[in-house]
Amino acid sequence: MTIIVTGGAGFIGSNFIFYWLREHPEDRVICLDKLTYAGNLSTLAPVMDKPNFRFVKLDICDRAGVEALFAEEKPEIVVNFAAESHVDRSIESPEIFLQTNIIGTSVLMDASRKYGVRRYHQVSTDEVYGDLPLDRPDLFFTEETPIHTSSPYSSSKAGADLLTLAYYRTYGLPVTVSRCSNNYGPYHFPEKLIPLMIINALHNQPLPVYGQGINVRDWLYVEDHCRAIDLILQRGTVGEVYNVGGHNEMRNIDIVKLICHKLGKPESLITYVTDRKGHDMRYAIDPSKIHRELGWLPETRFSDGIKKTIQWYLENESWWKPIISGEYRNYYEKMYGSREKLS
Ligand code: NAD
Ligand code: TYD
Repeated sequence: MTIIVTGGAGFIGSNFIFYWLREHPEDRVICLDKLTYAGNLSTLAPVMDKPNFRFVKLDICDRAGVEALFAEEKPEIVVNFAAESHVDRSIESPEIFLQTNIIGTSVLMDASRKYGVRRYHQVSTDEVYGDLPLDRPDLFFTEETPIHTSSPYSSSKAGADLLTLAYYRTYGLPVTVSRCSNNYGPYHFPEKLIPLMIINALHNQPLPVYGQGINVRDWLYVEDHCRAIDLILQRGTVGEVYNVGGHNEMRNIDIVKLICHKLGKPESLITYVTDRKGHDMRYAIDPSKIHRELGWLPETRFSDGIKKTIQWYLENESWWKPIISGEYRNYYEKMYGSREKLS
């Protein structure tokens, strides 16, 4: 069987490719990735020489290129991870988010229709539900929670998510959608909370916490997300949405303090800075549908996952050093240089 994985040079997509080649060694995996700032070919080095793996540098918005690839490879399954994924960047420059996340998704689905794929899976996010208030810990996102977005990122992901369901209803394209909570683990791009704090702490640099640091995210180890998508592909019902999350809610400040503690760094590195515009307060997934219907449960406890993740960053400087010394430096200066210190 041939599976096309888009965005496979990024964080979750690369972890998914490693997972898939390990769990389904008989399958052929094609990674389609534009290699934006977030895509790293070096990440895929461990699988690049495998005979059943192929990397194709391509933009998911390139209709002719995508169709030619589908015509050549005739994939049975398409899993779309390719996206602009960072909320802060979407606040600075929304347009590319609309282009890649919405138009790119439509191009992939048109090609999937034309070449008769057996399953198109859209990797969506819990951010399509907007946020929950901090004083209502009894509330969780279910698959029936209304879509109600806050940022250009989440709005573009919601557009793609709804478009996917529309292609099912209108054209009968066999789709599934997963809406997952925040992932963490190896190969997470340094602009995101956990790797940014690990890398800054290692350099004894300030740890920039937005606002009061009381926003809550529901963290899931990346491999648990990969396994959830695998189960959805094998046994999920076409046309359905599955929430994915591990009931692991944590305040940002507690994560940052934990990272300081694990690395033996002083909490005095923590610097409260100007809050993100429109900052979502709390994400919390109710994963009972995927548990009930597909038997999925997270396997990695946060205490183990964060230990493994920190260890990975300690052992893989050669992966992140080139990233933080390149274009990322300009990004960091632009994003954080102008952020006012609150303490
Ligand atoms: P990432 O930013 O690390 O990787 C994105 C990848 O997509 C990169 O390799 C990039 O080069 C590629 N890409 C971007 N634009 C492209 C285009 N036009 N054509 C082809 N490739 C392109 O993102 P991630 O954190 O791995 O997220 C992957 C997917 O999972 C995204 O769709 C994201 O919305 C979703 N998601 C992420 C999280 C999370 O916590 N990171 C949680 C839920 C859902
Ligand atoms: P992030 O990793 O960008 O994921 P998302 O916004 O998709 O949840 O951010 C996670 C949380 O951490 C979010 O509440 C914003 C906060 N944050 C900081 O406080 N400081 C930072 O430097 C970053 C990148 C994020």
